[in-house]
Amino acid sequence: MFRSHTCGELRDTHINKEVTLAGWVQKTRDKGFMLWIDLRDRYGITQLIFDEERSSQTLMEQAKTLGREFVIQVKGTVIERTSKNPNLPSGDIEILVSELIVLNKSLLPPFTIEDQTDGGEELRMKYRYLDIRRNPVKNNLIFRHKVTQHVRNYLTNEGFIEVETPYLIKSTPEGARDFVVPSRMNEGQFYALPQSPQTFKQLLMVGGIDKYFQIVKCFRDEDLRADRQPEFTQIDCEMAFVEQEDILNVFEGLIGYLLKEVNGVTVEKFPRMTYEEAMQKYGNDKPDIRFGMGFGELNAVAQHKDFNVFNQAELVVGIAVPNGNEYSRKDIDKLIDWVKRPQVGALGMVYVRCNDDGSYKSSVDKFYNQDDLAKWAEITGAKKGDLICVLSGNATKVRKQLSALRMELAEHLGLRNPKEFAPLWITDFPLLEWDEDAKRYHAMHHPFTSPKSGQLELLETNPGDVKANAYDLVLNGIEIGGGSIRIHDKKTQALMFDYLGFTKEEANAQFGFLMNAFEYGAPPHGGIAFGLDRLVAILGGQETIRDFIAFPKNNSGRDVMIDAPAPIDDAQLKELSLKLDLKS
Ligand code: AMO
Repeated sequence: MFRSHTCGELRDTHINKEVTLAGWVQKTRDKGFMLWIDLRDRYGITQLIFDEERSSQTLMEQAKTLGREFVIQVKGTVIERTSKNPNLPSGDIEILVSELIVLNKSLLPPFTIEDQTDGGEELRMKYRYLDIRRNPVKNNLIFRHKVTQHVRNYLTNEGFIEVETPYLIKSTPEGARDFVVPSRMNEGQFYALPQSPQTFKQLLMVGGIDKYFQIVKCFRDEDLRADRQPEFTQIDCEMAFVEQEDILNVFEGLIGYLLKEVNGVTVEKFPRMTYEEAMQKYGNDKPDIRFGMGFGELNAVAQHKDFNVFNQAELVVGIAVPNGNEYSRKDIDKLIDWVKRPQVGALGMVYVRCNDDGSYKSSVDKFYNQDDLAKWAEITGAKKGDLICVLSGNATKVRKQLSALRMELAEHLGLRNPKEFAPLWITDFPLLEWDEDAKRYHAMHHPFTSPKSGQLELLETNPGDVKANAYDLVLNGIEIGGGSIRIHDKKTQALMFDYLGFTKEEANAQFGFLMNAFEYGAPPHGGIAFGLDRLVAILGGQETIRDFIAFPKNNSGRDVMIDAPAPIDDAQLKELSLKLDLKS
């Protein structure tokens, strides 16, 4: 038996007990005649004591040779500490060691294994196994496990069956690039790793598994951000014989359950907003609604005066910043510089101070009188003491810019409270999205999404106006899930591929298997997939998903610990019938 107890469980009730512990040496304090060691394992820390009076000289000498992160096993007696440590659960006791075995030595770790470490991000990634010994990382992994466990329980209780689908598949168009795997046995041919199990879960519906879920790895070769990894995990779900309303209800149930079980938060109702409304009110299809600062469109009251910048703009739009009148001229100049940064791209910003006496002072006083500005305040919902920030220009661009400013201000004003949870369904997404580079439409969600009933005809005349049975779930300004009601008949699916610019041959080559299956009694179906990494991070009060993944990739998609991706040798290339020509 390696251990009788863990390093986290001994208390004063165990005093006088003989115990065996095993773990890592976190810290040694050596007073010469007395020596203490903090012994750490996954469960906590227990203090070991060696002293000249009670321990043999060999044992004392042996203890003095221990370095940080040595793995040891000790036998000893639980005794009461003379000076107790109220900050440590085991702080009332210590172990008077009678026997010490070094199970393994350790090199000096490249950073301190403490909650606050001196190790930089890259170094900690390289030695991730050491980083995982630290509480913040370890606790995130435990937290992730807990969330995953609740997800499985909830969905199982709701009658869902977890089914695994293959990883070596053919391209699924989720909008990113595929990672591909060459096939040795099929010369010159490649598998693609799934961007999601989309087509398989639809085939499971044809197979009669009417409630499916899977906690599954997905692979997307796309640019990385704090909330994106090239391989990430989805809670992928699909149901047959359902309408959009059924799906929203079931998965509102799941997220509500997680919020209650994991965070102790009860969310009564999940509000809903159409895509159009979200874009108009927040300039964003994943608005953070924990705080206000909704957009006020000012064209009617700000145009047709003598201010040409506004007159020429497609959209003049503003937000009221709570207590923003406290900002100094310098603060406001900083905001103006911020919106003018190339990443945001605004040409400038007009502002109005809402004074406590009810008067207004704006940066465009030359063109607007107090009555005009009072209307701006009314439309943006500005109160005395607030600051109105106004941007203008091309509607799509200016909404994006103001949305960025809104989030920046919210961060600055501390309005993004990680302990508060504000879910929001976004519905009625457009079916298609114009791709300016390719000069054609793409499916906004994916090509299996059904258009709203009666809108198929619109595809001919106003493709951009067709709405889809598609929905996203947003939590605190992050898209945590997205799904749709699917097309389930061959004719509509073929038509869809046609509109998306696939030739009949291309559509058949890529998705013939799905369209064929639709001819054998495909039930109406729909589903959703949640980003598990994102969900776990947000429930854990954070936004960087890397911190909740045991072995994540860095921002260039590399695993710096195992040093991947890496070249493969010529023999392997040859076996795969691959030839590299890196020069061209
Ligand atoms: P979608 O592409 O919206 O839908 O993906 C679902 C959810 O997965 C998460 N996600 C990611 N998380 C981390 N890193 C990434 N690179 C990444 N990409 C996506 C997001 C997102 O909301 N097959 C459809 C689902 C369906 O229609 O049922 C799909 O994959 O949280």
